[in-house]
Amino acid sequence: MPPRLSVRRFFLCLVCCGGVLLLLGAYHHHSYFLGIANPSPQQPSSAENVPPPTWEEVTEVAYLPTEKELPITFDGPKNWYFSGGSEYPEKSSSPPKIFPYDDPSDRVSEQLMYIPDDYEGYDSPEKVILAYNGLGQWDKKPGTGAFHGCPVNRCSLTDDRNRAGDADAIIYKDHFTHPSVARPANQIWMLYFLECPYHTQSVKYADLFNWTATYRRDSTLVAPYERWTYYDQKIKQRPQMMNYAANKTKKVAWFVSNCGSRNGRLAYARELAKYISVDIYGTCGPLRCPRHDKACFDILDRDYKFYLAFENSNCKDYITEKLYVNGLGHNVLPIVMGARPEDYERSAPEGSYIHVDEFAGPAELAAYLHRLDKDDRLYNSYFKWKGTGEFINTFFWCRLCALMHAPLQHKHFEDVNEWWRGPGVCTPKSWRNMDT
Ligand SMILES: *[C@@H]1O[C@H](CO)[C@@H](O)[C@H](O)[C@H]1NC(C)=O
Ligand SMILES: *[C@@H]1O[C@H](CO)[C@@H](O)[C@H](O)[C@H]1NC(C)=O
Repeated sequence: MPPRLSVRRFFLCLVCCGGVLLLLGAYHHHSYFLGIANPSPQQPSSAENVPPPTWEEVTEVAYLPTEKELPITFDGPKNWYFSGGSEYPEKSSSPPKIFPYDDPSDRVSEQLMYIPDDYEGYDSPEKVILAYNGLGQWDKKPGTGAFHGCPVNRCSLTDDRNRAGDADAIIYKDHFTHPSVARPANQIWMLYFLECPYHTQSVKYADLFNWTATYRRDSTLVAPYERWTYYDQKIKQRPQMMNYAANKTKKVAWFVSNCGSRNGRLAYARELAKYISVDIYGTCGPLRCPRHDKACFDILDRDYKFYLAFENSNCKDYITEKLYVNGLGHNVLPIVMGARPEDYERSAPEGSYIHVDEFAGPAELAAYLHRLDKDDRLYNSYFKWKGTGEFINTFFWCRLCALMHAPLQHKHFEDVNEWWRGPGVCTPKSWRNMDT
């Protein structure tokens, strides 16, 4: 006998199936909202099947988050010198590469994470560092204050020249005058230059210095204007949820106060202006915007696509705030002139700028800028470094103290002038012309 399907049974079945379907739907709905509000990998969510928005979709959304609102991709432990960092170094028996003759890099991170094997804190002898030209320029006071919070802090600062006969180190900032007392055998003499060779003294006695502190990456203590540091060396780019080209109506801006320069930057900018609109603010151009006025820099974020981060001199490793603060500190693409292309490659975030030497001249550069101006995707590719790291405090005094406690190695510069201002260090022309 075939099973009888009564009309009543049929309806009962229909109601049951419908109920189950409704329940299932409700559950899905529920989990969908849960998934949005509190995304967690375990939560089954229909949002999982939705691909992340494409770049074009992102640029369509009405509200675009500012860079500060974007989540930081890195949430692992950070070394102590990052903001919010907590990882402190341990003593190292095999000294890391902290001296320039050990390693061609700037060694800033290694020095910040170095504690000598035999370092015993307060049981170690205090190293006295004499700032021969005073502490005012550093805004530091005599004593141990400069070393508070350092992994190696058993050091003290003095500006008392009477200590020249017994200090462990003497720093000569920007100029050198010979102390009148005899120099102890193990006393370190360090030359500190803030400016580039064109604006610093040629030292009269060039064979007396053991260490240097300058922005050059082969200095004993590298003192860069800023130091970009990735959270994770493997993550140098990340997607940005923002269209950096949006709403911008102007092309190139330049803030400049010193019209004369060693590298012909003004002539270059004027030539560039023949092919693309260049707005020159300051004494060398028609536009005004008072220095230190925040509103001046706001226009870089809002109106301009490009910024001329031109240094006043073309010298090895000479990269200043013009790039780091004016340019990379804003949502604008910096065009750089100054140090060699390979110096920028090592110091600036990956893919964050354009070097003038990538082009034969201003006309070729302008053509590329016009291309970037029309291609938002290409333009935005220069901002993918944002959020992958930080411009860190390089804690100069902490590093100096750590090096003072490192095993003493007798070294000195045969001719510090040759090192600092010898052939090939600076060029009045483009680096492109150096090779030919
Ligand atoms: C562009 O302008 C629109 C309308 O004024 C504004 O809502 C949007 O936030 C702006 N976008 C950016 C990236 O500034
Ligand atoms: C420092 O330099 C001087 C003079 O050049 C040299 O005689 C001395 O050995 C050096 N000392 C150290 C600790 O490197």
